[in-house]
Amino acid sequence: MSRLLNCIVAVCPDMGIGNNGNLPWHPKRLSDEMKYFQKMTMTPTVEGIKNRMQNVVIMGRKTWFSIPAQNRPLKDRINIVLSRQMKEPPAGAHYLASDLRSALSLLDNAEIAARADQVWVIGGSSVYKEVMESPSRQRLFVTRILQQFDCDTFLPRISPEKFRLLSEFPDVPKAMQEEDGIQYKYEVYESVEI
Ligand SMILES: NC(=O)c1ccc[n+]([C@@H]2O[C@H](COP(=O)([O-])OP(=O)(O)OC[C@H]3O[C@@H](n4cnc5c(N)ncnc54)[C@H](OP(=O)(O)O)[C@@H]3O)[C@@H](O)[C@H]2O)c1
Repeated sequence: MSRLLNCIVAVCPDMGIGNNGNLPWHPKRLSDEMKYFQKMTMTPTVEGIKNRMQNVVIMGRKTWFSIPAQNRPLKDRINIVLSRQMKEPPAGAHYLASDLRSALSLLDNAEIAARADQVWVIGGSSVYKEVMESPSRQRLFVTRILQQFDCDTFLPRISPEKFRLLSEFPDVPKAMQEEDGIQYKYEVYESVEI
């Protein structure tokens, strides 16, 4: 796991990230927060007309199916779904991997390596946990939702020994955000080894 792994997550005060297969604040929608997710995960580090690089999104099976069918696969990104049970990628997904290491190994395959840029881990709970506990270099893009909703799925604790909160990061707004009466703010953490 030598690549920098980016995790992106929106989290309630109790570290809840999901409820009943959906986001905790469902049916409310945080449209700008979704646009932020889209921009961060979709924008490659290298730009240019001839550039065919795309970012990679890695997600667990339940997170894949939590995305509305019309939005799958996440466009302009290489979508990798993790499942120990499935034998072939769910319809629309680009790749299936039976564990995180295999997902990352896929990116060493010459055909994919030539077009894969940043790696974004987009959930759920056990996938974040595995990455956050791994020795890989990481950034965590955390949206702190300042209102509590019922949650049944959680992000592990962000260990202050392992991650430091950055005071700023390019393209990440610093100001408090508010949509549909819900306040939230963006944070970026970096693993201390970086
Ligand atoms: N707030 C946020 O930012 C955010 C982000 C993502 C998801 N969510 C929410 O979180 C919930 C879904 O997350 P979840 O934690 O319940 O499920 P999940 O991690 O998305 O999916 C779990 C499934 O993924 C597969 N899987 C997970 N880790 C694996 C690994 N290391 N290797 C192989 N397969 C692996 C397994 O599939 P098989 O059973 O097929 O083997 C497992 O049952 C939904 O409510 C969603 O809305 C929220």
